[in-house]
Amino acid sequence: MTQDELKALVGRAAIDYVVPGTVVGVGTGSTVNCFIDELAKIKDRIAGAVSSSQKSTERMQALGIKVLDPNTVESVPVYIDGADEIDRGGHMIKGGGAALTREKIVADIAERFVCIADASKLVDTLGGFALPVEVIPMAAGQIERRLRALGGEPRLREGVVTDNGNVILDVKGLSITDPAALEAEINQWPGVVTVGIFARNKASVCLLGTPEGVRKLEF
Ligand code: 5RP
Repeated sequence: MTQDELKALVGRAAIDYVVPGTVVGVGTGSTVNCFIDELAKIKDRIAGAVSSSQKSTERMQALGIKVLDPNTVESVPVYIDGADEIDRGGHMIKGGGAALTREKIVADIAERFVCIADASKLVDTLGGFALPVEVIPMAAGQIERRLRALGGEPRLREGVVTDNGNVILDVKGLSITDPAALEAEINQWPGVVTVGIFARNKASVCLLGTPEGVRKLEF
């Protein structure tokens, strides 16, 4: 099976986690796009969706899925999103699509985070994928220095401005053995909007697409 077929497989499988009559939290990315396409088929059975990016909003609206303002939604039973990496404890690196801040906001109002990913995303230790950090532009220089002091190699993602008007630093060279501690540390630096470590808002379940079918990991 190709990587795209594995993404389609888990996108379909995630439909089983949608609770009829409720609002669904929807992430961002190519795997989530497969899920959105499936969600459109049952759009009359849900109360709507809360979106984590302009891209997902546009895709859902084009398919007739009602997108709600997150400020009007207190909680959602489930948030479905992809990941750039996930470890065996359900901690993730996210933000490859630059949507990490809104993804974390929606994940935070969700009772369960269902991660959908192809098998290549499962790792023993986070950090092989460069860690995205969304930063207020005037703080980028100072945040880069702090990240270097941690042993990372930050690089500005050229030509990218987030939905929130900020920039992304991608940090190579970190071996993230304590995701919760590093998330807390980086988050408190002035100028950091969001770090792409999802430890506090980790996955509850991961539907992993493998050539043998969907493998379910629970955390
Ligand atoms: C976007 C994300 C995505 O979930 C992550 O990049 C995975 O994307 P894809 O499903 O395209 O591999 O965090 O900010």
